[in-house]
Amino acid sequence: MEKLVIEGGLPLQGTIRVSGSKNAALPILMACLLPEGEVRLGNVPRLRDIHTSLRLLNILGCETTFDGNDVTVNVRDLKTEAPYDLVKTMRASVLCLGPLLALKGEAKVSLPGGCAIGARPVDLHLKALEQMGAVFELTSGYIFGRCDKLRGAHITFDFPTVGGTENLLMAASIAEGETILENAAREPEVQDLANFLNAMGAKISGQGTSVIRVQGVPALRGADYRVMPDRIEAGTYLAAAAITGGEVLLEDCPCTELDAVLAKFRNMGVELEEQKGGLLVRRHGPLKGVDVTTQPFPGFPTDMQAQIMACLCLAEGGGVIEEKIFENRFMHVLELVRLGADIRLKGRSAMIRGVKSLVGAPVMASDLRASASLVVAGLAAEGRTDVLRIYHLDRGYEDIEAKLGGVGARVWREEE
Ligand code: UD1
Repeated sequence: MEKLVIEGGLPLQGTIRVSGSKNAALPILMACLLPEGEVRLGNVPRLRDIHTSLRLLNILGCETTFDGNDVTVNVRDLKTEAPYDLVKTMRASVLCLGPLLALKGEAKVSLPGGCAIGARPVDLHLKALEQMGAVFELTSGYIFGRCDKLRGAHITFDFPTVGGTENLLMAASIAEGETILENAAREPEVQDLANFLNAMGAKISGQGTSVIRVQGVPALRGADYRVMPDRIEAGTYLAAAAITGGEVLLEDCPCTELDAVLAKFRNMGVELEEQKGGLLVRRHGPLKGVDVTTQPFPGFPTDMQAQIMACLCLAEGGGVIEEKIFENRFMHVLELVRLGADIRLKGRSAMIRGVKSLVGAPVMASDLRASASLVVAGLAAEGRTDVLRIYHLDRGYEDIEAKLGGVGARVWREEE
């Protein structure tokens, strides 16, 4: 196993190009099961989860290529089983359920099981697909789904689930009749998927609002599509520039999609200037405390909670973070405490008191964004921080050492 070694204390200076969005690319890849004809995707980040998705597409009977950041997918002989070995390494595999049911009338997809940040069930996906006529049986760790032709339905989600909305968008695209999704997720990645489906001939409107309408069409065709930039990667480098008191231009930064995050960092005393080519991040004065509550989009994203917490550890006055999306997403807290942070946990809230400095130490990454927060903290800590179990980071950050090294950080990989 590898670890990331960081010698902290240097203000970051320079330019970082934001990569394509992981959370947009994953559902878009599963949507490639749907069309007749080739799909060509650009701006696909080279990440472990993307390789896993391509493997899943291969197992499901697709031919794929991955060259630079370009992917092609051609469906050859569609299969209907997503095995445990793949699904257990990446929950997003469950997004093949909607397309397979819509196309083949059957699917056998391993249940994703728990993960470090919570139980994360898929009951809302199944309930909504049932309303479209699917029948499910859960046995031997698998979801067995069957249907004749999926029919359009009027579905109201109990919670605006991102994955659930995405699964339903794909299924409804080629179902019979109209589907209306109420209390749908409004996340930019859901919009990107809807736009991609429309590029393939789907008839979706209302994406980006909480009511999405999908008029089913008989079939989709191949298309060319460029994946949106990654707002969470951009936010993570914003946090890194802010915590080190640096000056970094984030090229291709999706500013509108980061609104809630930008507002918090501005309140913390970070100067943010939207420019034509991206977002300039700069900090001269001290970091100031703020309170943060994670919410579905357009609220503050849970995927940025750990990284802003790292910054709050060094902010005057600290702050309170309330995590409303996942029940167990504070695994980074005890690791940040190992670096000298003062954080107290009470249920779903974390109380952070700002300290003068953090000091490097070995820390353990537990999940993707927790790892990112440890890197952010390590960049500001005095001395050396070793972030163990870096494979989590490789699921979501393309070329992280090269990108940080390019703006002056001392960061490298070593064997654990
Ligand atoms: C996606 C993102 C993830 C992000 C999350 C919330 C991808 C690949 N992952 O995850 O990075 O943190 O959105 O913005 O895009 N829930 C249920 N039943 C369900 C579905 C969800 O109870 O059937 C619960 C979950 O346990 C969780 C909450 O709803 O507590 C949000 O989940 P959801 O929006 O579905 O997130 P994901 O799609 O899994």
